[in-house]
Amino acid sequence: MQVASSKEHIANIVLDLRKNHDSIGFVPTMGALHEGHLSLIRKALQENEVVFVSIFVNPTQFDNKKDLKNYPRTLDRDIKLLKTVSDSKIFVYAPTVEDIYGNHTKAARFDFDGLEHEMEGEFRDGHFDGVGTIVKRLFEIVTPDAAYFGEKDFQQLQIIRKLVEKHKLPVTIVGCKIHRETTGLAMSSRNERLLPEYKKAAPFIFKILKDAKKKFGTKSATKVTEWVTKQFEKNQLLELEYFIIADIDTLKPVKRKSQSKKYLAFIAVYAGEIRLIDNIALN
Ligand code: PAF
Repeated sequence: MQVASSKEHIANIVLDLRKNHDSIGFVPTMGALHEGHLSLIRKALQENEVVFVSIFVNPTQFDNKKDLKNYPRTLDRDIKLLKTVSDSKIFVYAPTVEDIYGNHTKAARFDFDGLEHEMEGEFRDGHFDGVGTIVKRLFEIVTPDAAYFGEKDFQQLQIIRKLVEKHKLPVTIVGCKIHRETTGLAMSSRNERLLPEYKKAAPFIFKILKDAKKKFGTKSATKVTEWVTKQFEKNQLLELEYFIIADIDTLKPVKRKSQSKKYLAFIAVYAGEIRLIDNIALN
């Protein structure tokens, strides 16, 4: 498996692959790979001759220094895991901060038509400028035909679609279903930092989302939101940051339900120091 740490190395690999007209799939990650990432990579391998996986903990998308410092970095383990999927068809790009940002580790500013101000954008200052900056830069370096993103970060997925549309980037964005542990907990690199008691408590999040979906059939978004808030008030371990029922396209909170629109419920919860997000389609 070729592991490149510089964009020049990636450019050489890409040049060679393009001679054979190989189509390139791309799965950007921040490492600490788990089965959820592998499912994206397997899908990308089904649809392309080769797949690039980037492993880079992007500093400009963290609003919380402690979270950035504690984010798991497990490159050797990640590479071993990738080899179990394919040794010859996967190329890894694990750059340094300098390789990506030079000596100017700063995010560019983006206008995603308001998508960036909702939910994660409200609670994580500058987060989507950081995501837009790194994803655009990675697309320019890897030049993929298609890039694969998980729906757990649904807002991120919609924002990347907007990035591609606005900047006319020649890449197809593929959204992939949330991969869950058997308990229902959405897979996330942060799960491995959950202390045992929180790991045990965390499946409550998806249980509540499923119950909220049932209730949304007959109740208003406000009533469902009040119900969810109450359930978390009764929970000793999990602290609700937000629960929002929003329009799938605009990501704006629903005021009045319309039959012709599609809605998702989005949730962010603290399990001790670890922040978990999840979502569910409601109709
Ligand atoms: O979803 C992630 O892991 C990150 O936000 C991404 C897309 C790799 C950008 O750093």
